[in-house]
Amino acid sequence: MKKDLVSISDLSGADIGELFRTVKELKGRPRHGDIAKGKTLALVFEKPSLRTRVSFSVAWGQMGGYVIYLAPGDIGLGKREPVADVARNLSRWVDVIAFRTFAHKTVEELAEHASVPVINALSDGEHPCQALADFQTIREIHGTTKGIKLAYFGDGNNVCNSLLLLAAKMGTKMWIAGPKDYKPKKKYLDMAAKDAEKTGATITVTENPDEAAKDAEAIYTDVWYSMGKEKEAAKRKTLFKKYQVNSKLLAHAKPNVMIMHCLPAHRGEEITDDILDGPNSVVLHQAENRMHMQKALLYRILGR
Ligand code: CP
Ligand code: NVA
Repeated sequence: MKKDLVSISDLSGADIGELFRTVKELKGRPRHGDIAKGKTLALVFEKPSLRTRVSFSVAWGQMGGYVIYLAPGDIGLGKREPVADVARNLSRWVDVIAFRTFAHKTVEELAEHASVPVINALSDGEHPCQALADFQTIREIHGTTKGIKLAYFGDGNNVCNSLLLLAAKMGTKMWIAGPKDYKPKKKYLDMAAKDAEKTGATITVTENPDEAAKDAEAIYTDVWYSMGKEKEAAKRKTLFKKYQVNSKLLAHAKPNVMIMHCLPAHRGEEITDDILDGPNSVVLHQAENRMHMQKALLYRILGR
């Protein structure tokens, strides 16, 4: 594995296979004693978080390590002190940094200047830990992610980007349905196309939600306005309306379709309550797997 996980593109197929094997091994062995004993994980967060903060903290704690949490505004990243200086200082005290920020280039910059591993805990560009945990969830339920039809509805955002990059590496048939101006950026689609050639994955972008949902084995959605985009909420609520995950959309999918959401959900916007809380929903399974996958990631990063 590379030193940092900034993007899904940092991982090879072999790395991903190794992570899935490690999750399986660690799930059967909940105590991991002293793997991280005497080591510190810094969580540097410029945005709020429930799942990422708690799952990283619990994972590291179960491995015997110590966590330090730096909340939005605590260190004045890029204002009180340049990102590179923060990276160099943190590297003298801590062993791993998990970083949540706005611009994707900020996490790239932190990783470049830190001598310790940096994990992207969400940027405006990607959410790699989320996508890895989600593919773990699909594997546990379907046995594989190869050839599975995964249909994503709504904003071509950070979660969508990491999912499509991972789909391309895993041979998944991914569909993305959303309004014309909110498709994933060409940069991500081009990166995915290169991997898809080798794995047989397909990435299809459409404005037609019914076509995307047809015979899908997994339906995924995320908020229509991510953290930092709240000012666009009213405009987006109108534009995204026809991409809502509801019972009408589900009628096009396979009867045992998995309903996925990274959470937090804006109930009644991108997804209705009956579907989010319904029998096909695996959202809490996804949330639990964040912890297992990040534990596997930290385990590998420590060179185990
Ligand atoms: N899915 C996710 O990353 O949740 P949080 O924003 O609560 O960490
Ligand atoms: N796309 C969402 C994901 C939250 C986990 C956001 O960035 O706010």
